[in-house]
Amino acid sequence: MALLEIKTAGDPVLKQISAPVDKIDKRFRKFLDDMYETMKSGEGVGIAAPQVGVLLRACVIEVDDKNRYDMINPVIIEREGSVVDNEGCLSCPNLFGDVERAAKVRVEFTNRFGKKKTLDAEGLLARCIQHELDHLDGKLFIDIAKNITKGRPNRNAKT
Ligand code: CO
Repeated sequence: MALLEIKTAGDPVLKQISAPVDKIDKRFRKFLDDMYETMKSGEGVGIAAPQVGVLLRACVIEVDDKNRYDMINPVIIEREGSVVDNEGCLSCPNLFGDVERAAKVRVEFTNRFGKKKTLDAEGLLARCIQHELDHLDGKLFIDIAKNITKGRPNRNAKT
């Protein structure tokens, strides 16, 4: 595996809309593993392909060190409730802010082996999914966050 360069806010690549992935092969799986390693090295819990300069609809999420999700062409098909919590982002070093998100989401995606999956998520996982999917549409959390601070105000993890 290899560490990838993380693009930071101000880089125009982060404002682009990513294209669907149409081929999931060994090379693409290696890219997912490189994203995962890059995320872990930054102590993040999620990373989206545009953050490493690749405009494809894919992200890797691991909020609890047990369940890693490689989501390819993910789409949120249901949202429920609303909750405000603090977020950060590997592409916005040392910035944190409060973001309103759906409390629960149902997401459809293709996994790294080309299988269609449906996942119901809540809590940090639901928040992370929404944050990463925003990256695929060129949106950064700092554009929608309130009470942005430099430095982490509490325990919440980077997505
Ligand atoms: Co982010």
